[in-house]
Amino acid sequence: MIPDLIARNQITKRLRIWCAGCSIGAEPYSIAILLHENFSYLLKGWDVRVIGTDLNRDFLSRAREGKFVDWSFRSCTEEFKITHFVSDGKSWKIKDHLKSMVSFQHHNLLRDPIPSVLHELGALDLIVCRNVMIYFERAVNERLVNQFEDALNSGGWLVLGHSEQIQVQSNLKLHHFPKVTVFQKEEALPALPNFSLPRIDPSVVADFSPPTSLLQPKFNAENHAVKREIQTIKELADRGQFEAALSICDRLLLVEKKNALLYFYKAIISDQQVGGPGVEQNLKQAVLLDQDFVFAHYYLGQFYRKRSDSYRASRSFQTVLRLLSRLDGDRQFDEADGISVTELKRLVLSQLEAA
Ligand SMILES: C[S@@+](CC[C@H](N)C(=O)[O-])C[C@H]1O[C@@H](n2cnc3c(N)ncnc32)[C@H](O)[C@@H]1O
Repeated sequence: MIPDLIARNQITKRLRIWCAGCSIGAEPYSIAILLHENFSYLLKGWDVRVIGTDLNRDFLSRAREGKFVDWSFRSCTEEFKITHFVSDGKSWKIKDHLKSMVSFQHHNLLRDPIPSVLHELGALDLIVCRNVMIYFERAVNERLVNQFEDALNSGGWLVLGHSEQIQVQSNLKLHHFPKVTVFQKEEALPALPNFSLPRIDPSVVADFSPPTSLLQPKFNAENHAVKREIQTIKELADRGQFEAALSICDRLLLVEKKNALLYFYKAIISDQQVGGPGVEQNLKQAVLLDQDFVFAHYYLGQFYRKRSDSYRASRSFQTVLRLLSRLDGDRQFDEADGISVTELKRLVLSQLEAA
């Protein structure tokens, strides 16, 4: 699977892997080790992210620590253990260069959105969800498999445990491997990643306002031509046509110089490309034009967190919390996959924890 993905993503030089229901992190760290041991020379200069999610916050805290007891290595060689882990006497801690390839987030497979760029769970190349769906009912699993399919790039892979009995009626092709059930998403368009942006449009951002004028956008939401163009930007980005989407952003910005949303999209789309330029600058411009733009602050926080700039990450996340505190908890942001104020708060708190 990995060689296939590396061949497929030669142009984007981007690899996104999601371990759904990762427990204390053995799976995502194993993938990081696998990539490092076998493919690091091919992945030099690539943007590789392994994301582990789980429902259980205690498991996630342990996963973030990256410590494992001897028993966890029962099927590994001693050499494997000492190559990739450091002993503290009681347990073995994953080495920093491997730890930095992996991030962890809280995510409930039954309730939270999939795909979701807010959770960095969109345009994925590989989803691993082993020994999790055994707990769910058949109808739930069928829905989940469809959601996983939506979250995968064309040609992306889905790995389930061998005991997961799934009826698949989608564009997922079954491959036979020992001990795992593996599906590959059929190519819809050749080699185009399926990137999903939050469904933000000017009218919805305008709808941020109650109960105060807190989140009122500072641009002309009535301009229907601009609205249509923004929809096109989103559709192009959804099909992975990042360059085309960015060139429309740039053309519109020549006229719509104060459109915070355009800067925001520019940042989000650039962030999908290796070394995409100006992500921070465009997000800053968005919050400068609209200080109450919750999602621009949120992404800025994520941007800093990924770069280990804890101070600025915390500052941005605190701003999001402050803005959210003025909104009703049940209120849903349709523009961001229906996430509610309460859920976004929880998400920000977990990001703060990781910052
Ligand atoms: C048996 S463990 C599997 C761990 C790992 N995938 C493996 O195979 O070693 C199941 C994991 O699924 C998680 N889980 C259960 N329900 C979940 C849900 N609704 N959303 C996300 N994770 C869930 C549990 O917290 C647990 O960590």
